[in-house]
Amino acid sequence: MKKTPSYETQELREFARVLRGRRTVDQYIQTPVPDEFVREAIEVATWAPNHYVSEPWRFILPGEETVGRIIDLCAARVTAAKGAELAEHKRCSWREKPGWLIVTCQRNEDALREQEDYAACCAAVQNFTLYLWKAGVGSKWTTGAITRDARFFEIIGVDETEAFVVGMFWYGYPKITPTQSRRDVDTVLISLP
Ligand SMILES: Cc1cc2nc3c(=O)[nH]c(=O)nc-3n(C[C@H](O)[C@H](O)[C@H](O)COP(=O)(O)O)c2cc1C
Repeated sequence: MKKTPSYETQELREFARVLRGRRTVDQYIQTPVPDEFVREAIEVATWAPNHYVSEPWRFILPGEETVGRIIDLCAARVTAAKGAELAEHKRCSWREKPGWLIVTCQRNEDALREQEDYAACCAAVQNFTLYLWKAGVGSKWTTGAITRDARFFEIIGVDETEAFVVGMFWYGYPKITPTQSRRDVDTVLISLP
C-alpha cells in the first residue's frame, strides 16, 4: 500500500492561515485596488463548483455614476425610515468604500436548481474574497434590504424576474482589520460510527 502524502507542508499551513485570517472589513484606506486585479479575482471566482456547470453568477462592477445612484437610494431609504441625519452619516460612510461589486444569481424555475445555483454563487464569492485577501485586500459582503429594493434592480440594470442579488460587496485595503472567533471544531463536528 502506498504511503499517504504528508499534509504537514508549509504551503498547506500558509493556505490555512489565509482561510482563517480572512475577515469582513468595513473600513478601508483610500488606495484603489487595481481593476485588472479585481478582474483576475472574478475570473478565479468562476472556478467554483457549480452543479450542471450552470455558471449562474453575474458580477456587476458599478462605475462612479452607478455607485452615486446606489448611495442616493440608500440615503433616500434611510431618510424615510430613520431621518435625514442618519442618512447623511450613511452617505458619508458609503462614499468611503473604495471598491464595489454586486453579485447576482440567475433564477431557475426549478427550486432545487436555484438553491444549488445560489450555493455555487456563494462558493464563487468565497473564491473571490479569499483571492483578494491573499493579496492584502479586504472585503465585506452585505445583503441589506437595499439589495432587494426594486429601485436597486433598476439601477444595476437587472430584471428581478431573471436574477436575484447574492450580495453587494465592498473591497479595498483595510484600515482596520477586526478580530473574530469561531467555536471549537468539536462543537460542530459530528462523527458517526
Ligand atoms: C450571506 C451573507 C450576508 C452578509 N450580510 C451582511 C450584512 O448585511 N451586514 C454585515 O455587517 N455583514 C454581513 N455579512 C458578513 C458577516 O457579518 C461576517 O461574515 C461575520 O460577522 C463573520 O465575520 P468574518 O467574515 O470576519 O469571519 C454577511 C455574510 C454573509 C455570508
